[in-house]
Amino acid sequence: MTAGASVRADGIDDHEAARPAPLIDRFGRRFTYLRVSVTERCHLRCEYCASPGDNGTDAEILRPAQFDRLLAVFRGLGARHVRFTGGEPLLAAHLNGRIAHARALGFARVSLTTNGHLLARKAAGLAAAGLHDVNVSLDSLDPTRFTRITGGGDLRRVLAGLDAARRVLARVKLNVVLLRDQNLREWPGLVAFAITHGYDIRFIEAMPLGEAGAATVARSHVDTTAVRGELARRYRLRELTPVPDHGPARRFAVAGSTIEIGFISPLSQEFCASCNRLRLTSRGRLVYCLGHAQGLDLRAALAQGLDDEALTALIREQVARDKPRGHEFGSDAHTVPVRMMAIGG
Ligand code: 5AD
Ligand code: SF4
Repeated sequence: MTAGASVRADGIDDHEAARPAPLIDRFGRRFTYLRVSVTERCHLRCEYCASPGDNGTDAEILRPAQFDRLLAVFRGLGARHVRFTGGEPLLAAHLNGRIAHARALGFARVSLTTNGHLLARKAAGLAAAGLHDVNVSLDSLDPTRFTRITGGGDLRRVLAGLDAARRVLARVKLNVVLLRDQNLREWPGLVAFAITHGYDIRFIEAMPLGEAGAATVARSHVDTTAVRGELARRYRLRELTPVPDHGPARRFAVAGSTIEIGFISPLSQEFCASCNRLRLTSRGRLVYCLGHAQGLDLRAALAQGLDDEALTALIREQVARDKPRGHEFGSDAHTVPVRMMAIGG
């Protein structure tokens, strides 16, 4: 992706009608990007995500109308980009309704993060509902290793899903969590695969979220800045200018291809200063930061019957006061008590 004069690298048009009083915290960060988990359930058990005994449950999930109300409130607070996540969001039968609603509310960009197993079947419906782009987890191109890392995943299904997605969506991106003892040596093959098919690709360092994430970090953390150095020796890279409130990845264009390669390096690189995101769990909890358990129970606020104005004021106040400066992943070997299955990456 290249940045044009008025359209930013993340595809959001800056000339979009400005809304009053954006959501800002005490560090001056603006929150224009909302990630919404639409289910905790997932049929895979990725080693860095799924902790033993925690399968996720939709027992306390918001009702579709409650998701829609919160989407509207955040849109009113200046959110322009929404990403639906899980768990595995394609397990949520109500997903297409939320996508269509987000588009009707005027979100400039509506995205999805998925494990891709149901994508072949669902891509056309997602596109028809108004989805702009999709991120698909692809940690390996070796079927056996893929199944091992994902706890039962089927590589063929994901490849079929990717194929279907690229036919109907403007952008498809691969998410790769690099693990020292599993797929580290696969990154050149994954980059070549991405270039061949025109997928953007992003390498992510494992984060110590929940028991599973902490165990993975302890065993197989990779500093992705080393991979970046190696990549620069093989390809001509041009670093894409970070745009204000863009998000945590360092991004590079690859000469001679259309794709973009990104690196998310939470442990080896501070990225919190440019954080532009908030997360809503499927139970209606607003999570301020991946690295902190703290949050705001919006389901309770809805149950109390707050009107939109009161909800807006509550969110504005709490985010301004409580959003922490950043994660502290590197400070010691601690496990962040956040359940990845509930907040979806
Ligand atoms: N560390 C880093 N990334 C993670 N994901 C899930 N768990 C972790 C973790 N502990 C990411 C994966 C997946 C997305 C849903 O979340 O990249 O693609
Ligand atoms: Fe499921 Fe995604 Fe977690 Fe893997 S990372 S177990 S696909 S929710």
